Amino acid sequence: MKIALIGADGQLGTELLAALAGHDVAPLFYPAFDVTKGGDARAVLAGLAPEAIVNTSAFHRVDECEDKAEAAFRVNAFAVRDLALLARDLDAALVHFSTDYVFDGRKAEPYLEDDPPFPLSVYGASKLAGEFFARALCPKPIVIRTCGLYGPAGCREKGANFVEAMLRAAERGGPVRVVDDQWVTPTSAAELAACVADLLGRRAYGLFHMTNEGRCTWHQFAAAIFELAGRTVDLRPIDSATLGARARRPAFSVLENARAKALGLRGFSEWRDALRDFLRRMGIAA
Ligand SMILES: NC(=O)c1ccc[n+]([C@@H]2O[C@H](COP(=O)([O-])OP(=O)(O)OC[C@H]3O[C@@H](n4cnc5c(N)ncnc54)[C@H](OP(=O)(O)O)[C@@H]3O)[C@@H](O)[C@H]2O)c1
Repeated sequence: MKIALIGADGQLGTELLAALAGHDVAPLFYPAFDVTKGGDARAVLAGLAPEAIVNTSAFHRVDECEDKAEAAFRVNAFAVRDLALLARDLDAALVHFSTDYVFDGRKAEPYLEDDPPFPLSVYGASKLAGEFFARALCPKPIVIRTCGLYGPAGCREKGANFVEAMLRAAERGGPVRVVDDQWVTPTSAAELAACVADLLGRRAYGLFHMTNEGRCTWHQFAAAIFELAGRTVDLRPIDSATLGARARRPAFSVLENARAKALGLRGFSEWRDALRDFLRRMGIAA
């Protein structure tokens, strides 16, 4: 399959490039290819005539989005509208990534794809708008919500993923304070990419949740990173109110991969096993 991969050097993009090796993939890199430059982006993609456009681009520095709502919506929503219209015109699938932050966290059980979203932040609202554009305008949308991604390339936009950030904090020494009242599922970018590769070509469209299995707080995730990496760290829990981050985040944003399981897609491992695999791959854990 001919695939245009946007953000091919990003954290997920790098893993997708490897997972889609059996396909004819055209990698696209920012800033030479910029999803917010409508006409230019359209010309490049139309020239490639892909059967699938895979969009990993995002403005996802969550706190910064609160002060830069227009910039967040430009990348996370309006650019997705342009991609959806182009995909429609090319009869291509549009694979687009969204977030657990579309939910408000008031549910006690893992969120299903048909649970109503209610974002608490500009980031979450802009990503939800992008989801709606993709699903409303493109006849072959594949919208994938994921959570807490980490991979060897590191998160380009945020400067580091959570695992790297914790290992750097450990190097600096001193107490490391991490929130213990937000439940998530850390997700391996490599496992997500493998599941996306499985989904492509099945001609199944719509909204999919894709995360590793299980749940933890960010504090529990940090504790597992330090334990598996063999680091002794003064790790202390903090609550979200005390931390006082600019953007509100859901207290519980664990997703159930209901549609992926119903389709019989390649499954995800428990988050802790995936973390161990990743740390081994990086030469950090035994
Ligand atoms: N990271 C997470 O924890 C997480 C959680 C839930 C959902 N997601 C979603 O998963 C997707 C992938 O995340 P990631 O962690 O792989 O992000 P990433 O490492 O920041 O990768 C994003 C890629 O998109 C490129 N990009 C940025 N702005 C662009 C633009 N205007 N036009 C074209 N390309 C642009 C970036 O290039 P430069 O690096 O050169 O700027 C980078 O290659 C995003 O949609 C994100 O919202 C991520």
